[in-house]
Amino acid sequence: GLDIAPLLKTTGAVTYDPGFMNTANAKSAITYIDGDEGILRYRGYPIEQLAEHSNFLEVSYLLIYGELPAQEQLDAFDNVTRRHTLLHEELKGFFGGFPRDAHPMPVLSSAVSALSTFYQDSLDPFDDEHVERSTYRLLAKVPTIASYAYKKSIGQPMLYPDNNLDLVENFLRGCFGVPAEQYELDPDLVNALDTLLILHADHEQNCSTSTVRLVGSSQANMFASISAGINALFGPAHGGANEAVLKMLRQIQAGDVSPEAFMEKVKNKEDGVRLMGFGHRVYKNYDPRARVVKGIADDILAKLGGDDELFEIAQRLEQKALEDDYFIERRLYPNVDFYTGLIYKAMGFPEKMFTVLFALGRLPGWIAQWREMMRDPATKIGRPRQLYVGAPERIYPGV
Ligand code: ACO
Repeated sequence: GLDIAPLLKTTGAVTYDPGFMNTANAKSAITYIDGDEGILRYRGYPIEQLAEHSNFLEVSYLLIYGELPAQEQLDAFDNVTRRHTLLHEELKGFFGGFPRDAHPMPVLSSAVSALSTFYQDSLDPFDDEHVERSTYRLLAKVPTIASYAYKKSIGQPMLYPDNNLDLVENFLRGCFGVPAEQYELDPDLVNALDTLLILHADHEQNCSTSTVRLVGSSQANMFASISAGINALFGPAHGGANEAVLKMLRQIQAGDVSPEAFMEKVKNKEDGVRLMGFGHRVYKNYDPRARVVKGIADDILAKLGGDDELFEIAQRLEQKALEDDYFIERRLYPNVDFYTGLIYKAMGFPEKMFTVLFALGRLPGWIAQWREMMRDPATKIGRPRQLYVGAPERIYPGV
């Protein structure tokens, strides 16, 4: 029943590639991944060096503008993002309209979409000045929106951002501070979160980034495109894996099943059980981000006293997997999500916030990719073809 004649008339050839496994949709100079070797670089810089020596603001600049900033450029970038953290009071009012138990991800995407209505002066995707304004408005306001979404979900009043603080500090205070009380920032926690955001800042043409590009290819503005990306990240197959890891660890902790017995279930593919936080579509080697995350997990859990038992179960699972032929043959290694959930939990974030933290980190990548696409003369509106497998022509009854 496959009729490809109409397709061949217009294109001469057609590829059928579900999931775009073998289709490059863009030329990009932003992020390089070699999955076989376990290499990830932003603008040529290895992720390990950026995680150790840079910070999230500088990495955001690097991804968006292509070069590391000189000190005065970084200062100006810091200044402009600090001064745009406030939300319009009427946008703040939106938060009252969502149900009390709303998941913070759709709240985040709705508020980002609504930015199009509040900043109608910065919507022209081809005007460099407008694009600059949208860039710093997003970088500054998304952490505020994210902390408001969190406060909403726990029924606490929202805190206005404090411009003496940087983006990450403001976000932590916005989540965990309470009005009229001094919030003591813990530098170890700030640094750990900053590094985790760097690790998530871009990952070339993943599902949410491709969504940002596809929506933007219709010349939709940056707020509309990135709101769509947030919705793509909301899906459990993309942004929800660290929540799934925690759930798996809890099941092992609560049930009679030992880590060893659980591994047998995974290897026998009983009920389709997988070792969550293991394996990756692109990395067929140790995910370079996972190594950095493991180091942070050691430090933060030792300091904040996270759930030692869950951490121990996770380490036992990892150890078993790294020694087991099933995992070795299939080249399955821990991915970035294996330990992040445990760290976020120790920091005090509920599971619903994990994907929001991912979105905060991925934001500069989405912005950089949207800008690169808009400037690329080769960009065309995204419009895949299909293979029609439905009914042939039919006659409407009575005709
Ligand atoms: N546990 C057990 N077996 C696994 C796992 C796993 N986590 N991942 C893959 N396998 C096995 C498959 O059963 C398959 O075995 P087979 O050849 O005997 O049939 C083989 O490895 C290849 O698996 P595929 O599903 O074909 O690999 P793919 O590249 O499509 O999947 C994915 C990648 C989806 C990430 C997969 O490894 C998985 O489901 N992992 C667990 C979920 C997870 O951690 N997701 C987060 C991804 S990272 C991110 O989004 C930031």
